Amino acid sequence: MSSLLHTQAITKRYGALLVTDEVSLDIRQGELHAIIGPNGAGKTTLINQLSGELRSDSGQIHFAGEDVTAQGIYARARRGLVRSYQITSVFDEFTVRENAALAARGARTHAFSFWKPLLEDKAALAAADEGIAAAGLASRANVLASELGYGERRQLELAMALASRPKFLLLDEPMAGMSVQESAAVVELLKSLKRRYTILLVEHDMNAVFALADRISVLVYGRILTTGTPEEIRGNEEVRSIYLGEEEVGEA
Ligand SMILES: Nc1ncnc2c1ncn2[C@@H]1O[C@H](COP(=O)(O)OP(=O)(O)OP(=O)(O)O)[C@@H](O)[C@H]1O
Ligand SMILES: [Mg+2]
Repeated sequence: MSSLLHTQAITKRYGALLVTDEVSLDIRQGELHAIIGPNGAGKTTLINQLSGELRSDSGQIHFAGEDVTAQGIYARARRGLVRSYQITSVFDEFTVRENAALAARGARTHAFSFWKPLLEDKAALAAADEGIAAAGLASRANVLASELGYGERRQLELAMALASRPKFLLLDEPMAGMSVQESAAVVELLKSLKRRYTILLVEHDMNAVFALADRISVLVYGRILTTGTPEEIRGNEEVRSIYLGEEEVGEA
């Protein structure tokens, strides 16, 4: 597999606090790559650097053969590097389908073209329906967002990201706050999205991570400690010692 996203020593500081420290990552086309690490390790910061929400203090980011380091969030999203629930937010008074169609439209133009009636925008609706189906929400397409349960709302956020037809999805704790059943449903959903999309998954739920990931990188104090297959990570003594006191890495 060739590399779709490559970072070269990206760093982010807040004053004296070095949050990400020369992170070099190579994410291959079609893989599901998980980032794990203790609270405060810099995982969300790293995601924000990749999406373009945060500019790195140093280092480079290459995506799909292009240097996107200087690009902002919209420019990167238009190239297919998309973070779930970031470009657009959910409008409660709109249906699932309308929300997804707005997200599809937002991916094409910087500002929404509000003057064109949404329900006449066939391209946006087609992309919306694709995203909704892929996110497992087809039966809820015409329901108002305000009527969705918590898990369904997270599915809608995913549907909206998918409606923008990404190449690369950045997911920051998609299972957070979900019930056991809802998490299991998201694991199945992500399995169905694997390969079609390249996915970077930050998640604390180790069962989910080990069930889904092709490779795992461990981030500790802003540095990549190691990258490897789930087997390699499970067998890594240093990783085990970091998680000592928590449940066994990757075991129920
Ligand atoms: N805007 C900010 N200003 C100052 N410090 C920040 C800022 N954002 C994050 N930090 C600090 O950077 C560190 C890493 O935060 P980050 O949210 O990236 O960690 P994380 O790995 O996502 O943690 P968690 O697992 O709890 O989500 C933390 O010490 C945090 O307090
Ligand atoms: Mg975080």
